[in-house]
Amino acid sequence: MPRENAALFFSAPDRRPKKVVNPMSSKTSVPSQPQGKNFAAGSEAKSPPTTHVMPTYARQDVVFERGEGVWLIATDGERYLDFASGVAVNSLGHAHPKLIAALTEQAGKLWHTSNLYRVAGQEKLSDRLCKAAPFADKIFFCNSGAEACEGAIKTARRYHFANGHPERTRIITFKGAFHGRTLATIAAAGNEKYLEGFGEPAPGFDVLPFGDHEALQKAIGDTTAAIMIEPVQGEGGIRPVPIQCLKGLRELCDKHGLLLIFDEVQCGVGRTGKLFAHEWAGVTPDIMAIAKGIGGGFPVGAFMASAEAAKGMVPGTHGSTFGGNPLAMAVGNAVLDEVLAPGFLDHVQKVALRFKQQLAALKDEFPDMIEEVRGSGLLMGVRFKASTPSGDVVKACTTEKFLTVGAGDNVVRVMPPLNITEAEIGEAVVRLSKALKRVAADQAKAKAGA
Ligand SMILES: Cc1ncc(COP(=O)(O)O)c(C=O)c1O
Repeated sequence: MPRENAALFFSAPDRRPKKVVNPMSSKTSVPSQPQGKNFAAGSEAKSPPTTHVMPTYARQDVVFERGEGVWLIATDGERYLDFASGVAVNSLGHAHPKLIAALTEQAGKLWHTSNLYRVAGQEKLSDRLCKAAPFADKIFFCNSGAEACEGAIKTARRYHFANGHPERTRIITFKGAFHGRTLATIAAAGNEKYLEGFGEPAPGFDVLPFGDHEALQKAIGDTTAAIMIEPVQGEGGIRPVPIQCLKGLRELCDKHGLLLIFDEVQCGVGRTGKLFAHEWAGVTPDIMAIAKGIGGGFPVGAFMASAEAAKGMVPGTHGSTFGGNPLAMAVGNAVLDEVLAPGFLDHVQKVALRFKQQLAALKDEFPDMIEEVRGSGLLMGVRFKASTPSGDVVKACTTEKFLTVGAGDNVVRVMPPLNITEAEIGEAVVRLSKALKRVAADQAKAKAGA
């Protein structure tokens, strides 16, 4: 990939905790939430009540009981403008009437049969997804993004096994990536914070600094199976991979007989304004993981592959009890009805442009706080200068009843539902501006007191 694009990716976020916390100690909380300290920023200072829920998330002390479009209504009646979207999941907002109709209709007929039998909804959704992503011929449905990434990794390894090269198992990945929280996917991303305390990392991953062309060339060897990458890094801080880089990776894979895996768990299914983010680059993968948006809030994941790449995935090689069950498929098909409806993705691109412009104006208004506005479509990130911790911004936004999500690299993610209106975008920018004024006031107070 061209060197001039490399700089963007050299500084992988260091999200290691400052102190090692003993997870067995009842006096400490475990800092293992996906967004590190950013996510810990609660709406209020008071601690959440004690529960029996395992404390792996530092949850905000708010309980939502209802949703309507882009709004979440808490048990105390407060309304929140939701630009977190369940971390890029609620692609059509909350309580979308067509999703409710699809789910309830299916719920009255059949919930689950297992994958021992044909599932009509799976066959329908796989036909539609393969038509929409012409590189793909085969799909396996699962329940989450991590499972989708694991399945993608397994597919790549089985391809080489089927070709008589069982030694080709290594997957090249990149720093700052996030592929899930299973043992294989934490090893794939190589983030030490998420690996800590879980024993030897699963073998077979070469995690490289992004953009280091030489390291990439050197890492490819006789045992390399595939390169896996998010076309837009999500948890790492909303970093779109330059088009030339994606093209360069495709060329490298073709040259060395490797499979190219795109993790579109966060950036896929319309989030960037195309059905799949890789369409912007005109580059196709051999295998792709999707999840989040395709279920619109119902747990659905999938990995898709070309017939060639999927050749090793024969009967008995993979399975899931719940994956692709009739309820999940009914919702997945209903989400696709909307996202593929004429004009839907044009709408995403149009409002995304307005949003980007308004965020850029906010950067002009707060030049001492905002470093950069970046992202693709409605997967946007606002990167703050070091003097403004993104966790403080997330917290102030919550105080303004505006939900956002932290990410690596001191970024605040803003990811509204794809059917958001321009008026709702305008309201979000007003609330974000108020939150930044609040943070600025707190900073000024702290300075005066220092
Ligand atoms: C790019 C990417 N891959 C994989 C995952 C893991 O998905 P899940 O949490 O559904 O297992 C995520 C979740 O944030 C993600 O953003």
